[in-house]
Amino acid sequence: MESKIITQLINSAQNAQKNAHAPYSGFQVGAAVLTQDDRIFSGCNVENAAYPLGQCAEATAIGSMVTDGTKIIKAVVIASPNEELCFPCGGCRQKLAEFAEDATPVYMVTAKGHIEKHTVGDLLPHAFRLRHDGTTDKA
Ligand code: THU
Repeated sequence: MESKIITQLINSAQNAQKNAHAPYSGFQVGAAVLTQDDRIFSGCNVENAAYPLGQCAEATAIGSMVTDGTKIIKAVVIASPNEELCFPCGGCRQKLAEFAEDATPVYMVTAKGHIEKHTVGDLLPHAFRLRHDGTTDKA
């Protein structure tokens, strides 16, 4: 993948991260997805006083993408607030797998810009997916 577009994705994720609503964890996360038609959607985590209602940054970005009428992700960036990579939670791995292929790259970036590349498939091997006719890949 072109480094220029990855830089744009990182900028977009880090800008969204600044708006994170994370007063309970103090852990601000940003995410950005690149769609098949080369659009970028970003999101931040949105926590709630009722803790289980909090939403991850990836979910916010995905929701924005789907709302805008697009459903195919070809790259993901997740921006962490410190020097440890922010690996997506289990639920977000499944959410990403809904709209991406196993080979889709997931770039994790630290606050100082250290980047590590993974894929949707290595983060969630053997993902459960349904075809649009309701059958599974394994059927
Ligand atoms: N969080 C994300 O937004 N994305 C991740 O990939 C991992 C965790 C959020 C959830 C919560 O608001 C905060 O980080 C601490 O867990």
